[in-house]
Amino acid sequence: MTTQTFAPRVFSGIQPSGGLTLGNYLGAIKRFVSMQDEMPCVYCMVDLHAITVWQDPKDLAHNTRELAAGFIASGISPEKSILINQSQVPEHAQLGWIFNCVARMGWMQRMTQFKDKAGKNAQNASLGLFGYPALMAADILVYHATHVPVGEDQKQHLELTRDIAAKFNHDYGVDFFPITEPVIEGAATRVMSLRDGSKKMSKSDPSDASRINMTDDADAIAKKIRKAKTDPDALPSEAAGLADRPEARNLVNIYAALNDQSVDAVLAEVGGQQFGTFKPKLAELAVSRLSPISEEMARLMNEPDEIDRILRRGAEQAREITAPILAKTYEIVGMVR
Ligand code: AMP
Ligand code: TRP
Repeated sequence: MTTQTFAPRVFSGIQPSGGLTLGNYLGAIKRFVSMQDEMPCVYCMVDLHAITVWQDPKDLAHNTRELAAGFIASGISPEKSILINQSQVPEHAQLGWIFNCVARMGWMQRMTQFKDKAGKNAQNASLGLFGYPALMAADILVYHATHVPVGEDQKQHLELTRDIAAKFNHDYGVDFFPITEPVIEGAATRVMSLRDGSKKMSKSDPSDASRINMTDDADAIAKKIRKAKTDPDALPSEAAGLADRPEARNLVNIYAALNDQSVDAVLAEVGGQQFGTFKPKLAELAVSRLSPISEEMARLMNEPDEIDRILRRGAEQAREITAPILAKTYEIVGMVR
């Protein structure tokens, strides 16, 4: 139990392991942008997490800069928020090691993301992939962050973050790490594949038609939505009518999230329409929301030095927070400094 009150602070991260998808945007980044006006925020490209599965070095560097461009183009302001690349703030990995010694093997073995990513041959997965959630806990707790906006798929990792904070506090008899609140909100906390309503939209899906990439142009977005899997029925007028229709539900959720409306408000307008009518509307909305972001990303990608400068400055600002928290952690653990 924590009795100490911690100043509110947001932390969240995204892996630079491929391009950004509409799932990242609606499930995470859109919320990152709005939280900037509520409390101090730190947003992170988690390159150390990305290399838990193989990344070509050239791709990693490109994807890290592109992700930074995506954050900024979506509205994350380096003046308001601290924007960093994880490996440039060494306290993440240093606290990660301490947490490797706090977390238990059994906790890690229960993680569904590890099971999914390791697949059938878990013996061949990297040790980093197994320990991934302990580093994620360190990312958050090295800032004493209290709020973590994420998509639904990260819920289990955030519960583990709370378990690690509680065990550290208990083992060392302190009230040092906060018990973090997950922020999983909105109509699109789990955006599904456009080809299969039972699978999450993911940057690692082999089918490009399954996702909308933040770098897709207007034609590509319209084509993917036109070809998205649906059922033959008309849209219902109430959310209950989407219960057994995962593909229809997904498209309506996407529409609602892009337009900042509730699902019920969307269905009040489009209930009774066929997909032949609804899909072009959705495509038009998606293009109008995403094109300005992808254009700004392309512009920023022509100025890689500017991106690197923003990240170096972010790392300096971040270390003013993380260095004292790590130093105090070492002291609590009994390390001679
Ligand atoms: P990742 O790309 O796995 O690093 O995820 C970064 C953030 O995007 C996390 O907060 C995820 O929960 C969120 N996210 C990724 N894919 C989706 C999706 N299909 N729907 C909603 N949120 C997602
Ligand atoms: N595991 C997260 C994902 O794949 C990325 C991540 C790493 C993260 N560290 C974090 C998210 C800290 C929130 C807070 O989506």
